[in-house]
Amino acid sequence: MDSRTHNCGELTKKNINKNVHLLGWVNSTRTHGKIIFIDIRDRFGKTQIILNSDSLIERGKSLSNEDVISVRGKVIARSEDLINKNIITGEIEVVAEELEILNMAAPLPMSIHDREASTEEHRLKYRYLELRNSELQNNLIIRHKTTQVVRNFLNDQNFIEIETPVLTKSTPEGARDYLVPSRVHNGKFYALPQSPQMYKQLFMISGLDRYFQIVKCFRDEDLRSDRQPEFTQIDIEMSFVDEEHIRDMVEKLIVTVFDKVNNIKMQTPFPILSYKDSMNKFGTDKPDLRYSMEIQNFKKFSDQSDFQAFKNSESVNMIHVNNVERFSRKVISELDSYAQSLGAKGLAWMKYKDGSFEGGISKFFNQDLQSDIASDCNINDDSICFMVADSTQLSLKVLGKIRVKVAEMLSLFDNSVFKPVWIVDFPLFDWDEDNQRFDSVHHPFVAPKDNDIEIAISEPGKAISKGYDIVINGYEVAGGSIRIHDQELQQKIFETMNLTQEDISNKFGFFIDALKFGTPPHGGIAFGLDRLVMLLAGVNNIRDVIAFPKTTSASALMEDSPNTVSDEQLDDLGIDIKEHEKNV
Ligand code: AMO
Repeated sequence: MDSRTHNCGELTKKNINKNVHLLGWVNSTRTHGKIIFIDIRDRFGKTQIILNSDSLIERGKSLSNEDVISVRGKVIARSEDLINKNIITGEIEVVAEELEILNMAAPLPMSIHDREASTEEHRLKYRYLELRNSELQNNLIIRHKTTQVVRNFLNDQNFIEIETPVLTKSTPEGARDYLVPSRVHNGKFYALPQSPQMYKQLFMISGLDRYFQIVKCFRDEDLRSDRQPEFTQIDIEMSFVDEEHIRDMVEKLIVTVFDKVNNIKMQTPFPILSYKDSMNKFGTDKPDLRYSMEIQNFKKFSDQSDFQAFKNSESVNMIHVNNVERFSRKVISELDSYAQSLGAKGLAWMKYKDGSFEGGISKFFNQDLQSDIASDCNINDDSICFMVADSTQLSLKVLGKIRVKVAEMLSLFDNSVFKPVWIVDFPLFDWDEDNQRFDSVHHPFVAPKDNDIEIAISEPGKAISKGYDIVINGYEVAGGSIRIHDQELQQKIFETMNLTQEDISNKFGFFIDALKFGTPPHGGIAFGLDRLVMLLAGVNNIRDVIAFPKTTSASALMEDSPNTVSDEQLDDLGIDIKEHEKNV
């Protein structure tokens, strides 16, 4: 086939009078009297074609959208009134001299340009068609640019990209593993990596010094709008570093990515917030700092009020926000139901207008108390306060979610603004009430703070870790830590997590062993590439930045996976499917 002279997105006034050959899809056709206009489209853009001879018009009439065509013709200037300033090719059009249909398209099962017109299930079934949509193509281009910038940056900083195995052994990142049965070793399973955590630490032991990998990770966990069962990490590990070195390198990486991909300038150093402060002020360790609306302790005020219902609660917290007129009874009642769905007993409220509180629970607060609240909590006129009384943990969590909901309702944030923050000083362990044991907050290889090494063993619940996350606009985009490089401490940490000697040597024997052969101090981080691209592309659904994503029930609708396999395959693997599941 003759090659094209140009793509469909590059002809401008400079090409006037040139003979060109374009290849692409019929985006749209319009008939105007004795002329047919065609928009021919490819990944690079659209060009307007004019058919004005009888034979071409006849052929043009048989065209349908999405037919693949070849057009030869001459570039001319559009008349003033037809200029489209929004596209590069908007000042020209091509008068066709030859038109060939290379392949006709069957009627499409969905609209390419109006994604909302079809359900997501339907679009995912025909994902290859949905990927013709310019918005999705643009997201994939942003993703591509991001990985290019990351690779170049890390290469310049002396990192080397090394691949790690996909058929591996269960890694302790906290989710369920995807398992792959072995044919050769009947009854045994590989696990797909939840992350290459142990491998990248082993690279440091091998002396490779600076490693990175853009790598698929697999986690069988409940899915959300920013979670997929297979997702991609930008995985990084460095030797001879502390938290500050990592923060410095990672900030430079983020600044470079936002600048080169989106031309957004970010200020460094990024603010640092302790886990505790983040929970107390925002009710979450993933705070969106584009708006303030910080949580305030309200207990000292409610204890002085006549409102008995709050008196026995461990904690009473409050947020307040302007725009009181947006909070009708109906809106307040919806927020109340939302708070209850999160486990709160209810969402108390009162409005502040003309220097006093009204409505909700205001009648339980006398005038003096009202004045104290307004001045101590910096409440402006025309504000509304929301209060939740409960255990400290629940009250903060619920208000954290109400804070986000209210910010969305009032559009308190701008999607073109990016507010990164480091969250640090996480607890090393969480107490798991169900299993009566300590679990790592990040993973078991995270080092405790230097001053907390002893209490990590004696009072594990109190130890603070050298872990850190980066949160941007409410998304956890990266997480990492300085690691334990001392074999004895690593062994003790496993024991603290109630692992038996047998468990430790079965699961981590090779790793514990490796630590004793001269392990350098080291640390690292992993970005969720998909989440980073979501921010750069300005979308809030992770599926919009992945070419072939899974649904929230982890299915691939186009290829219909997961699916059954033949009895022979199962026999080979030595697997019997339980009868009741076969029939589901
Ligand atoms: P972590 O578990 O915090 O750390 O993961 C790192 C980052 O990966 C992203 N992420 C996900 N993105 C989409 N879907 C998912 N299911 C998903 N799970 C995680 C998040 C997260 O911040 N080995 C450690 C890193 C380290 O210690 O260096 C790890 O995997 O953006």
